[in-house]
Amino acid sequence: MKSFMTQGAKILSTGSAVPDYSLSNNQISEIVQTSDEWIVTRTGIKERRLLTGVNQSIVDLAVLASIKALDKISMNPSEIDLIILATSTPNDLFGSASQVQSKIGAINAVAFDLTAACSGFVLGIVTASQFLQNGSYRNILVIGADTLSKWIDWSDRSTCILFGDAAGATIIQACSKENNSILNFQLNTDGHYANYLSILYDHKNAFNPFLNLYQGAFRYLSMNGKEVYKFAVSQVPLSILKCINSLNISIHDIDWLLLHQANERILTAVAEKLSINTSKIISNLSKYGNTSAASIPLALDEALQTKKISNNDIIVVSGFGAGLTWGTVIIKWNEF
Ligand code: COA
Repeated sequence: MKSFMTQGAKILSTGSAVPDYSLSNNQISEIVQTSDEWIVTRTGIKERRLLTGVNQSIVDLAVLASIKALDKISMNPSEIDLIILATSTPNDLFGSASQVQSKIGAINAVAFDLTAACSGFVLGIVTASQFLQNGSYRNILVIGADTLSKWIDWSDRSTCILFGDAAGATIIQACSKENNSILNFQLNTDGHYANYLSILYDHKNAFNPFLNLYQGAFRYLSMNGKEVYKFAVSQVPLSILKCINSLNISIHDIDWLLLHQANERILTAVAEKLSINTSKIISNLSKYGNTSAASIPLALDEALQTKKISNNDIIVVSGFGAGLTWGTVIIKWNEF
């Protein structure tokens, strides 16, 4: 990574939103053959939130999380220059970010979606920091939001136990180079294994015989759980190591490990591979499951609310998931 930094970037505020409806493991065991014990042992997940309202979408959750982040610092939405909505479950294939822009009244903001599954928030932060560190923009709203419950086959016990819906938002602001808190990043993609985790376009579903073309429909989420697990525990530690090595810091300097909240066993395995004490893992997935692009900002927001994170703490943030995509961003926490 080459840096052309003319100024710094720091996270100024966070907010999050989850649907009211909670689905427990025991409730899932009434739909498919599974048990609370199996799910907790294999994943650490106890319950997840689902967006159930007919007219509710990803946009409602993203708006709520964004307003909370704005309110925390009494920022007028018109001060936002750019909105990046990391989501793989938009309510409009053309993108949902513009709906968020309009609903929160960010009248001066450019807005676009970023699709990178569970790595979406990490890619969003890195993208935002480029615009800030090169002096293009001053305030950027990065949202990670997903409603995978809409794309799950609720009769498939190997996937329906894992996912939940949520949104998390962060406001990142330009600052002096000395106060820069987005210290480094390391990103990867390997499309060879895209089939390990996907929500595929299904051309068989809607054939138009007059025009001889196929029209849009998507299948349910499909996943090779074993391979995704192996990928995560082998590749994420390597990404973290590359990132900290090029920053010339050591494993001992890490205060918090904030990984995409996919599975408690993955979080522990990554920490153990890196010899990071498991007490440094930030984890809230027992309550929410895997909320895809929302999981990192949701966990960050909670960790800040509970005052886990202190000024100058070094937080290693890693996302991983479909694509396959994975990457790390290292943040030095500057209190807002
Ligand atoms: N309840 C009970 N049994 C289940 C089950 C469920 N919900 N899901 C699968 N099983 C069964 C399987 O059918 C299999 O039975 P069999 O041995 O009779 O064939 C057995 O449990 C073992 O299945 P397996 O797939 O090998 O389990 P696993 O230990 O790999 O755990 C996951 C499955 C999905 C929990 C695990 O692979 C995982 O977490 N992978 C990563 C997924 C992930 O994080 N994806 C998102 C990344 S962003």
